[in-house]
Amino acid sequence: MNFELTEEQSLIKSMVREFAEAEVAPTAKERDEEEKFDRQLMFDKLGELGLTGIVFPEEYGGAGADYISYSIAVEELSRVDASTGVTLSAHLSLAANPIYLFGSEEQKQTFLVPMASGEKMGAFGLTEPSAGSDAGGTKTTAVKKGDKWILNGTKIFITNGGEAEVYVVLARTDKEAEKHHGISAFIVEKGTPGFSFGKKEQKLGIRSSPTMELIFENCEIPAENLLGEEGHGFKIAMKTLDGGRIGIASQAIGIAQGALDAALEYAKERKQFDTPIARFQGVQFQLADMATQIEAARLLVYNAAYKASNGLSYSQASAMAKLMASETAMKVTTQAVQILGGYGYTRDFPVERMMRDAKITEIYEGTSEIQRLVIGTNLTR
Ligand code: CAA
Ligand code: FAD
Repeated sequence: MNFELTEEQSLIKSMVREFAEAEVAPTAKERDEEEKFDRQLMFDKLGELGLTGIVFPEEYGGAGADYISYSIAVEELSRVDASTGVTLSAHLSLAANPIYLFGSEEQKQTFLVPMASGEKMGAFGLTEPSAGSDAGGTKTTAVKKGDKWILNGTKIFITNGGEAEVYVVLARTDKEAEKHHGISAFIVEKGTPGFSFGKKEQKLGIRSSPTMELIFENCEIPAENLLGEEGHGFKIAMKTLDGGRIGIASQAIGIAQGALDAALEYAKERKQFDTPIARFQGVQFQLADMATQIEAARLLVYNAAYKASNGLSYSQASAMAKLMASETAMKVTTQAVQILGGYGYTRDFPVERMMRDAKITEIYEGTSEIQRLVIGTNLTR
């Protein structure tokens, strides 16, 4: 067992950190306040850096790197801006990856290659108004007519919605089948007649990441846009989320690390009682707990990422990583605000944004309760 980053992983870390600090960080506050998605900065440039397809083989336009490298990239982006981190995670883990794992060769050439290069952005449509945690409750339908599938229904809360060109969408193809049975996965392109966008959410955090409603009204897509086998959509979604949870766990560690770094810098500078507050044991103990929790969470994420890259089962590992990392992000960012005192509560410092951003990591890609359910089910099976 080797806990050192490889040369390639170290290079990716320093490259993404440099980019994140020089280009992403300076506009993070403004984009948050204006709820503004900057496609060029938050996606196109990630493509230029080779991040939009980092884990896919070179033959599909990827960089052929491992999941730890991917985790590092999402962490480093999220350390300065969680919205940019989730843009990459949703695109790569939730849209490009199921096409890589379950797509035909033709689908890979048509969709995965331009997605890996960063020419096209992806999004994943699973959640519906009455099917959130209960993903098997999907009501959107897809009916086969000749060489077309006709989609009807609404997806809500879709990250990258409106901006993405390629959507992996789950829909019920067998109305008689119950619960998770009879669901299939489809690839739907932006611009397809009958596919439109509804409400854009106004959110507590990750405010420069667009979250949109997808509306399908007699939306006709070609038969060949069925992804994987008909009726296997739920398992495709679950396997997709196993990988996605590594991305969100990495986002959570990045947010937490950003908050710890800000709190440390502040605590060394800020004097009260003629002493830098970092000298007070009460503050040091908080910093020590924050650093320890982040390191523990990061190791769980690397464990899941290692398994994902080496053909091992990683459903349980990624649920544990996501649970631990997201709850760590919430605790650490709250403590960071505390260490900055009144200043931490203002928008003059980034920790209040980080605290707002951290909360979503306990909700999306399965709430903390759902991660416990996945882990508990695996343990007691
Ligand atoms: N891999 C493969 N198969 C799996 C699986 C996995 N990880 N998990 C479950 N399955 C299979 C089961 O083996 C079972 O198969 P059989 O029919 O052959 O028995 C089948 O799927 C059904 O499993 P369950 O009975 O466990 O299903 P369930 O209905 O109880 O639901 C759940 C399980 C874990 C709660 C699931 O519904 C779930 O993950 N819910 C959360 C939804 C979620 O995470 N949504 C995220 C949306 S994306 C997002 O949020 C984007 C973003 O962050 C940017
Ligand atoms: P509910 O399922 O209604 O849950 C409400 C509460 O009940 C939660 O606390 C939950 O933990 C609890 N609960 C539910 N069931 C159980 C149970 N069995 N045991 C214990 N507690 C339970 N979805 C996508 O498909 N694609 C996206 O790109 C996407 N991006 C998102 C971005 C944002 C900003 C947000 C807010 C959401 C996004 N989602 C996306 C949806 C997200 O995955 C869901 O919001 C999430 O899975 C929870 O579903 P829900 O909101 O319907 O909550």
